Amino acid sequence: MEVFRTIASYKQYLTVVENEGRSIGFVPTMGYLHAGHLSLVERAKRENDVVVMSVFVNPLQFGPNEDFERYPRDEARDLALMESAGVDAAFLPTVDEMYPGGGGTSKTIVTVGGTVAERLCGASRPGHFDGVATVVSKLFHIIEPRRAYFGLKDAQQVAVIETFVRDLNVPVDVVPCETLREPDGLAMSSRNVYLTPEQRKNAPVLRRSLLAIDEWLAAAPETTAPELERKLADEIRAVPGAELDYAQVLAYPSLEPIEGPVAKAAGRFIAALAVKFGGTRLIDNRLFHEN
Ligand code: PAJ
Repeated sequence: MEVFRTIASYKQYLTVVENEGRSIGFVPTMGYLHAGHLSLVERAKRENDVVVMSVFVNPLQFGPNEDFERYPRDEARDLALMESAGVDAAFLPTVDEMYPGGGGTSKTIVTVGGTVAERLCGASRPGHFDGVATVVSKLFHIIEPRRAYFGLKDAQQVAVIETFVRDLNVPVDVVPCETLREPDGLAMSSRNVYLTPEQRKNAPVLRRSLLAIDEWLAAAPETTAPELERKLADEIRAVPGAELDYAQVLAYPSLEPIEGPVAKAAGRFIAALAVKFGGTRLIDNRLFHEN
């Protein structure tokens, strides 16, 4: 596996790959890799000649009171996992390499307008999706992949990235991938390491309540989005130590409200949860497809 820490050294490698006419599949991450990240690599390997993975904890997408400083980092472990997963090239830039000029800031920001970036995590984490869209846009220009792989655990992130890729005619195919879970249903996340044993035991409530939607809709097919949101909220609040950030049921990918019974909604919809256990914020969601 090749390891690049500068844009210039990566571009030399890119020239060789392009001259050989090989396609690049790209998996951007913030590291502290787990099986969820590696499932994206597996898919990228199946569909491309070369797989590039980036590890960069992007200061631009963290709020002032969020966990940028204490976000878990372990480069040696990440490199070993990438190597054994068959990643061809690792891109691990410093903050200065990505944001020259200091302070991890950028004068140019990619902002996706409308409900897709405003709702859910956009409301709880102001500026977060500006940071995501800006860094992903930069990474696309640096890596120049044919396809890029993103997890649907962050379904809103997928919708935001698909929007700017379409709006700005970015020549990258965005490939959404299924969420990988622990045996008890908890979505794999780098932040799960923050959970105390007690919190870890209670965390599967996110998945459990999202799965309960099937029973609720079967028992009451006329259920509306606000009614489902209340039921989800009740399930979360019943668990000790769980503090609800949001429980929302919206059209996907627009994230516009759904009128009337959700079972009769035209198109896809999403049930999305954000729940805090102490200082650790977990998200999960379920996508429902057209009837
Ligand atoms: P990070 O949280 O490290 O996630 C990197 C990628 O892995 C994202 O596309 C995310 O959705 C996916 N992922 C995380 N957990 C997953 C799981 N359990 N199953 C499947 N895929 C999973 O998301 C980011 O980093 C950043 O915002 C980034 C896109 C890299 C921009 O900084």
